[in-house]
Amino acid sequence: MRSVVTGAAGFIGSHLAQRLLDLGHEVVGVDRFSSYYNPAIKRRNVATLLSHERFRLFDRDIGQCDLAALLTGVDYVFHLAGQPGARASWGEHFAAHLYNNVTVTQQLLESAARHPLRKFVFASSSSVYGDAPEPFREGGKAQPVSPYGVTKLAAENLCYLYYTARGLPVVTLRYFTVYGPRQRPDMAIYRFIKAIAAGQPVTIYGDASQRRDLTYVDDIVDATVLAAETGAAGSTINVAGGLSITLAQLLALIQEEMGRTAYVIAEERQQGDALHTSGECELARHMLGFTAKVPLVDGLRRQIAWQLQQA
Ligand code: NAD
Ligand code: UGA
Repeated sequence: MRSVVTGAAGFIGSHLAQRLLDLGHEVVGVDRFSSYYNPAIKRRNVATLLSHERFRLFDRDIGQCDLAALLTGVDYVFHLAGQPGARASWGEHFAAHLYNNVTVTQQLLESAARHPLRKFVFASSSSVYGDAPEPFREGGKAQPVSPYGVTKLAAENLCYLYYTARGLPVVTLRYFTVYGPRQRPDMAIYRFIKAIAAGQPVTIYGDASQRRDLTYVDDIVDATVLAAETGAAGSTINVAGGLSITLAQLLALIQEEMGRTAYVIAEERQQGDALHTSGECELARHMLGFTAKVPLVDGLRRQIAWQLQQA
């Protein structure tokens, strides 16, 4: 099997690339090492992959790649490259979201539709739901509250269009707040652990009553591989951990696991932040045979251990 993983140097993409190598795939990674967060972190993410004989990396923007050459002989495309970050997608930042999430996705789809792929798996986001009624269901309302969410929804629509109009076998996965080793440094759990370890204040946006359905990265990788193997073309599937907890509860758990007390600074709730997320995963269960396996406490322990070891 030959697979292309876009965003292979990122948090989730680097875990997925490793899993595919473990499964015996030949993996071609593409990543532009964008400076949204320190590219040195992304270099570390791919360091082990680079020593694998079945892994090759294109250190390039997808928009600058010879896509026909990239996709020749490929079985699966896992499209994870993108500009994340819902709260930071306003104003001048939107241009990067539009280019990396929409334009590049269309370019990749256009080329992918000319190749006999087994599956094209797209990494979408719970942010397409905005403040929809809970639990979020795939067929329910999707009204994003951030420009980032709008670009992910636009990309989903492009994926579906290339399925209906061009027959590309696309499966779209809506990931819910992913955590674990290599989590992006702009995300809450990473920032909380870092601040507590350093004896620095933890910043909470709002009153900590917002809830998140948190998903451990290995579970996300499980679902992504299953989507390639058994996902029905044209489907859109939630991938969530299954437990939606408040930020206050999350912070309490992290403090307990670290055996330290956080000093909290409250700031205004951020625009673009969904209030609550919780994903119904019936479709993932029926179609993919997926259920999240890693309990939150175990996952947090693994992320804490990884972060402390990095320090
Ligand atoms: P990440 O930023 O760590 O990884 C994304 C990678 O894509 C980066 O390394 C970046 O350099 C690369 N990239 C961006 N634009 C590119 C381009 N034009 N060409 C080549 N490479 C490019 O982010 P992540 O948290 O690993 O997220 C991966 C995907 O999953 C993203 O599409 C994101 O929107 C989606 N997602 C993430 C989460 C989460 O909680 N982390 C939740 C829902 C959806
Ligand atoms: C996360 C990812 O960052 C997005 O890329 C992804 O698309 C989204 O999940 C998703 O599920 O689709 P988010 O759920 O907002 O977005 O995750 P965090 O960035 O970890 O934030 C979680 C909550 O903590 C938010 O309410 C945020 O405002 C809050 N937060 C974050 C703080 O209070 N303090 C911080 O320092 C950071």
